Amino acid sequence: MAHEELPVPTYSSLGPVYGEGSPLEEAQLRFDRLKAKFVDLFGREPDLYARSPGRVNLIGEHIDYEGYSVLPMAIRQDMIVAIRKHGEEESRKELRIGNVNEKYSVCAYPADPDQEVDLKNHKWGHYFLCGYKGFYEFVRSKGIDVGTPVGLDVVVDGTVPTGSGLSSSAAFVCSSTIAIMAILNNNFPKKEIAQLTCECERHIGTQSGGMDQAISVMAKSGFAELIDFNPIRASDVQLPAGGTFVIAHSLAESQKAVTAATNYNNRVVECRLAAIVLAIKLGMKPEEAVSNVKTLSDVEGLCLSFAGTNGSSDPGLAVKELLHEEPYTAEDIEKITVESLTSIFQNSPTSLDVLRAAKDFKLFQRASHVYSEAKRVHAFRNTVLSKLSDEDMLKKLGDLMNESHYSCSVLYECSCPELEELVKICRENGALGARLTGAGWGGCAVALVKESIVPQFILNLKETFYQSRIDKGIISNSDLGLYVFASKPSSGAAILKF
Ligand code: GLA
Repeated sequence: MAHEELPVPTYSSLGPVYGEGSPLEEAQLRFDRLKAKFVDLFGREPDLYARSPGRVNLIGEHIDYEGYSVLPMAIRQDMIVAIRKHGEEESRKELRIGNVNEKYSVCAYPADPDQEVDLKNHKWGHYFLCGYKGFYEFVRSKGIDVGTPVGLDVVVDGTVPTGSGLSSSAAFVCSSTIAIMAILNNNFPKKEIAQLTCECERHIGTQSGGMDQAISVMAKSGFAELIDFNPIRASDVQLPAGGTFVIAHSLAESQKAVTAATNYNNRVVECRLAAIVLAIKLGMKPEEAVSNVKTLSDVEGLCLSFAGTNGSSDPGLAVKELLHEEPYTAEDIEKITVESLTSIFQNSPTSLDVLRAAKDFKLFQRASHVYSEAKRVHAFRNTVLSKLSDEDMLKKLGDLMNESHYSCSVLYECSCPELEELVKICRENGALGARLTGAGWGGCAVALVKESIVPQFILNLKETFYQSRIDKGIISNSDLGLYVFASKPSSGAAILKF
């Protein structure tokens, strides 16, 4: 059976998830601590556990929500969730969510899947609530009866640094949803869980694509995955020997949910507008474009026909010829769509927030990024499958990563000064390629480095990037390993019953 059709695996020991040796020992300690905290808070032991990893995206940034394939891998840092279901007789119908980290105090919510997430009042426990609501929406849509909601006791422990672009939020939402699913005696094909957890995150107010959840749920140890959407599918990508991905935090926090209106959701809206304008310029009736065109992949066919008549196979040609580089005002676009932007986005409150915050819209730049980045993902995959020597292959992959970063930085404008500095330092210290990873506007860079120079590379980053920040007290020397580390492709989500 195809990998994505399988349910989330259930294990009775940690070995299949964490391997052997020190990673396994560390995991055992974390699970022991999690259980102790659970007993401490709730006076009983958990019934089961779920875990889901963070990810690093190797290439394919800001194109998943446009329908294009991306190429991430799971990292070892993850979220583990301990859960116990109350009996029907227990009177307290509440979700209580604790955290091993004392910094996060216990959050409580009614056991009501229809409650709204209070977005104006952001709390860390909201991510669990997203999973809870999303799970109930999903089972109801399938006509599955999971009984009357009962109280749940939950404690979590996360090692994916928050605001790092490594998908701490997807690790949280996916592990929560899977814990809820398992405690209610259900399991579903991974591709359905990937889809449902992606929809869960929209309750927090970001219109995110499905990459983070898909890789967190479907990852396989030892492989990066090419993730396709509509339908969701994962194909293993074996990375060439001799290269290592080093992840380095820029120490600028990327607050995706908080800055959505000006950053992440803004780009989603700009892409939609670029797609509608392109469709109209390519002959579609305005009202048809407004109601049917959601993403740039929806108009790729039209762009390709246009390119074909001009002797090219690049959808980007239509962008070059039909959109202009100067930013569009709302009025400019409304002249083309013959409908007001507020009416086009009337059903999406988070898009209306974007319209209120935006001065103008860079349709040319955003569309150019998306079409070119989509091509780079396939070039990356094809390079891995090619007959090039490992050396040449690594060099080519590095070049593609550098091109991706340039496009993110200049056309998509999702970088920041700290990331620019870090990417430059990575390249100066021998990285074959380096780029921002994840949503950007802070968070991490990923660098492809020859395995033989990894220790020296990390030392050099310490001296040239981190030392001044340690001196200023931004991070402590002893925490450095949390901010810069080499990473191997790790395994995906799992349920654990001991
Ligand atoms: C965030 C989103 C993903 C993806 C990336 C950018 O991580 O959750 O869906 O869009 O940003 O590639």
